[in-house]
Amino acid sequence: MSSVSTNGSVLLIGASRGLGYAIAAECIDRGSRVVATVRSPARTTLHELKDTAGGRLEIEHVDINAPEQVRALRERLGARRFDLLFVNAGVTNGPSETSADVTTEEFNH
Ligand SMILES: NC(=O)c1ccc[n+]([C@@H]2O[C@H](COP(=O)([O-])OP(=O)(O)OC[C@H]3O[C@@H](n4cnc5c(N)ncnc54)[C@H](OP(=O)(O)O)[C@@H]3O)[C@@H](O)[C@H]2O)c1
Repeated sequence: MSSVSTNGSVLLIGASRGLGYAIAAECIDRGSRVVATVRSPARTTLHELKDTAGGRLEIEHVDINAPEQVRALRERLGARRFDLLFVNAGVTNGPSETSADVTTEEFNH
């Protein structure tokens, strides 16, 4: 995280909770401007962070398994430039299993 400079801009995919939320909070704490995504229209802990982020957090919506949503996000953000893209969205089967150990279907999931 030391490479995220103060006043840098970050696009963070998958930040409603867990590590993504924690990365968003850390980036905001370090002075970055963050666009972070959720999937659901429901209020999340990320929305609580936005309430205290002094205008430096924008919340976007995307499910990276839905190509039309990825395309729509690109259209919304395509004119913007980010210093860091962090794709956090994903699932963990087990701490010892790597992407090389799973089937293509499971990798895509
Ligand atoms: N926790 C660990 O110890 C650990 C270790 C190694 C690697 N990782 C990796 O780190 C990442 C986050 O882990 P975590 O423990 O924070 O997981 P988590 O608590 O399950 O959170 C996953 C986050 O990704 C979002 N997400 C999941 N699928 C998505 C999709 N298709 N499109 C957009 N957003 C999606 C979730 O959104 P919703 O709220 O909508 O579900 C949530 O915000 C994962 O990629 C995981 O494999 C975690």
